[in-house]
Amino acid sequence: MTAMKERSQSVWMDVEVAPEAEPLSQDTDVEIVVVGSGIAGLSIAYELAEKGVSVLVIDRGEIAGGMTSRTTAHLAPICDDSLAELVSKRGRDAARAFQASQAAAVDRIESIVARHEIDCEFRRLDGILFLAPTDEETVLDDEVKAAAHIAVDVMRGSGLPLQGLHATPYLRYPEQATFHPLKYLRALCDVISAKGGRLHPRSAVEEIEETEDGVTVRAANGISVTARHAVVATNSPIHARYAYHTKQAPYRTYAMAFEIERGLVNDALYWDTLDPYHYVRLTGGSDGNDLLIVGGEDHKTGEDDNAVERFAALETWVKTLVPKLGRETHRWSGQVMDTLDFGAYIGLDADSKRVYVTTGDSGQGITHGVVASLIIPKLIADEQSEYAAIYDPSRTPAKRFGAFVGENLTAVSNLAQYVMPSEITSVDELKQGEGAILRDGLSKIAAYRADSGEVVKVSAVCTHLGCHVKWNSFEQCWDCPCHGSHFAPDGTVLNGPAVKPLPPA
Ligand SMILES: Cc1cc2nc3c(=O)[nH]c(=O)nc-3n(C[C@H](O)[C@H](O)[C@H](O)COP(=O)(O)OP(=O)(O)OC[C@H]3O[C@@H](n4cnc5c(N)ncnc54)[C@H](O)[C@@H]3O)c2cc1C
Ligand code: FES
Repeated sequence: MTAMKERSQSVWMDVEVAPEAEPLSQDTDVEIVVVGSGIAGLSIAYELAEKGVSVLVIDRGEIAGGMTSRTTAHLAPICDDSLAELVSKRGRDAARAFQASQAAAVDRIESIVARHEIDCEFRRLDGILFLAPTDEETVLDDEVKAAAHIAVDVMRGSGLPLQGLHATPYLRYPEQATFHPLKYLRALCDVISAKGGRLHPRSAVEEIEETEDGVTVRAANGISVTARHAVVATNSPIHARYAYHTKQAPYRTYAMAFEIERGLVNDALYWDTLDPYHYVRLTGGSDGNDLLIVGGEDHKTGEDDNAVERFAALETWVKTLVPKLGRETHRWSGQVMDTLDFGAYIGLDADSKRVYVTTGDSGQGITHGVVASLIIPKLIADEQSEYAAIYDPSRTPAKRFGAFVGENLTAVSNLAQYVMPSEITSVDELKQGEGAILRDGLSKIAAYRADSGEVVKVSAVCTHLGCHVKWNSFEQCWDCPCHGSHFAPDGTVLNGPAVKPLPPA
């Protein structure tokens, strides 16, 4: 096997969530099988286990090793695409219900933390939205108006204790929150296990089959789990070929952490009014320091391969606000699935009686994952959920038809790759650690040169729905621009919806 470079590491990843859990090793029967062990899958499994339901969680990678381990963990009920946009796209009633559900998710985390005395740095703090220098103050006026329409508390102010912002207008949203996501999920896994729930990492699922009286989930190693119901919490759904993928689009997003003297910046969640916005938050560091996390610079997956410039832009932006930053400790990236109306798709699959789904995190994936845990266990138990209607997975947002077409243009324009010239004409052009697309007759090959000099060649055609992958030099992987699959240089699936590796070329 070719030695691959390490992928980037976030600030949380030194915490192991369920190190003792073992891959699925024999056919099993259970009441509910949850595919995917991020914040969504584990929160749902926790609620089910607490109700005494027998639950099994299965994951392709390590437990909680997906996008949740790459988050920056703002627990901000405030729609991060702006309240004015939310009200305009969804109307006042749905927007109010959306905000209430997001706030309920944060309340639920808080109550679970209190109940199990979880040491995960959970705390309530202010969210501060400040005016970007290029924006007009009317942006904030619109937010205040929208907040009033949907009963969100907001206070207006001007002047923040950050360099260059001494007279900047801002909005303050109280009762936001933050935490250490992996410390929290480690505790949830302890509860799930203590209640008899099972956790199986390193067990990729390839197929979910619904029958008259149950569901069969088949892992790549040939082992099956049969259950009464399945919940697909794989971030990007692995089972429905088209249903969700035409209503959401993958965006790559970047984050960095720097040491900062404790107390230099007030503990709050800060973000600006740009689109995509920049944001800042703090987390505990060592030796009397904190870590300041900065993030943003999002772009559509696969559309750019310039992480170095994006990190440089983030660093310049944050050092303008906080010039006395210490050394950089981490830089990493991840992916979010943006939906057309900012809400996730959560509930029973259309045309299904037994398969539930949660997807479409929209940059609020932590709170959306917990919202899913407030909805899906209730639906499974045939109970009403007050939030189910606004997250209905079968909805197609009428007011965003233009965006709907736009997001699908990625898949359409990607078809042109079949006839476009290749990026290189020979693997001799590849330097160590580089990947590029090469033409071989009618087909395209994704070629990568390892540090050892060895060249690995796999098909460039994504095994999900046939788009062409793009090289990501920062994460050293192949990204599919259409629906967000990621593959290692040797073709191994790193992120769905693909379930099959890129075959050797
Ligand atoms: C840099 C960054 C910053 C962010 N900041 C915030 C923030 O401040 N606030 C916020 O709310 N959200 C934020 N988000 C979004 C949020 O972190 C994610 O949306 C959320 O963690 C996703 O959770 P999840 O459970 O849906 O997915 P994941 O955590 O990705 O879990 C899905 C799991 O499914 C597994 N899986 C996939 N396919 C298969 C298969 N075939 N078989 C078995 N298992 C499979 C994966 O291995 C994975 O473990 C951020 C995201 C990023 C990348
Ligand atoms: S992720 Fe759908 S075609 Fe690649």
